[in-house]
Amino acid sequence: MKHIVVLTGAGMSAESGINTFRDADGLWEGHNVMDVASPEGWYKDQDLVLDFYNQRRKQLLEVIPNQGHDLLADLQETHSVHIVTQNVDDLHERAGSKQVLHLHGELRKVRSSLNEDLVYDWREDLNKGDLCELNSQLRPHIVWFGEAVPMLEKAIEITSMADILVIIGTSMQVYPAASLINYIKSGIPIYFIDPRPAINAMDYENLTIIPEKATTGLGKFIQLIDS
Ligand SMILES: NC(=O)c1ccc[n+]([C@@H]2O[C@H](COP(=O)([O-])OP(=O)(O)OC[C@H]3O[C@@H](n4cnc5c(N)ncnc54)[C@H](O)[C@@H]3O)[C@@H](O)[C@H]2O)c1
Repeated sequence: MKHIVVLTGAGMSAESGINTFRDADGLWEGHNVMDVASPEGWYKDQDLVLDFYNQRRKQLLEVIPNQGHDLLADLQETHSVHIVTQNVDDLHERAGSKQVLHLHGELRKVRSSLNEDLVYDWREDLNKGDLCELNSQLRPHIVWFGEAVPMLEKAIEITSMADILVIIGTSMQVYPAASLINYIKSGIPIYFIDPRPAINAMDYENLTIIPEKATTGLGKFIQLIDS
C-alpha cells in the first residue's frame, strides 16, 4: 500500500466557506494577523484575541467539509494516508480522515498560558477568567507567529515516510510549515494543488502542478495516481 502524505493549508477549507488568509491581502477575517495571532497581540488585547477565536470556533458550526475533504477521507480505503495540516479547523476529521496532525493547533482546544502541555477540549466561548488547573488564564490552543511549533518533529517524520507527497492550498509563506517539502525521500512524486500555485516546477524533481481548486484538483490527482 502506497503511503500518501498530504500537506494542507487554508485553501483546503476555502470551498467550505472559511476564508484563507493571503487571499484577503494578508488579513485574517479583517484583522492584522499580528493583532490576533502573535504573543504580542495577546498581551496587548486579550479581549480582542479571545473574541476572534470565539468567532472562528462558532464559524466551525456553520460550515461542513467540502468534496476535497471527502476525497481525502475516501483515499484511506486504498492507500495509507497521513494529513499534516496548517489549518486549525476540524474539517478533515469531520470528513472521516483518521490520521491528521495539526501543525498550528486546533480551534476546538484551549491551553494553559503557563504550561503548554495542559491542553483541554473546548466547544464553547473562551472568556477572561477561564482558568487552567494552575489557576492561569486559558488561551486558544493555536501556534502563533513567533512561537515554537511543537508538532514539527512529528510532521518531519511523517513527511519523510511519504511515497507520494500532495500539497494543497498553501501560499508556502509560513515557516517552518513550508519547509516540510524538503524532508521527502529523494525522487518521490510531488503534486501541488492550488489555483495560484506558489511553487516553481523547475525547483523540484518530479513535481506536477495542478492549478485548480482543492475539489477539482484532488479529482484530477486521484485520476493521475489510478492511471
Ligand atoms: N481554515 C483554517 O484553519 C485557516 C484559515 C485561514 C488561516 N489559517 C492560518 O493561517 C496560515 C495561512 O497560511 P496558508 O499557506 O495555509 O494559507 P494562505 O492564506 O497564506 O494561502 C492560501 C492559499 O490557498 C489557495 N487557495 C485559495 N482558494 C483555494 C481553493 N479553493 N483550493 C485550493 N487552494 C486555494 C491560495 O491560492 C493560496 O495559495 C496558516 O498557517 C493557518 O494556520 C487557517
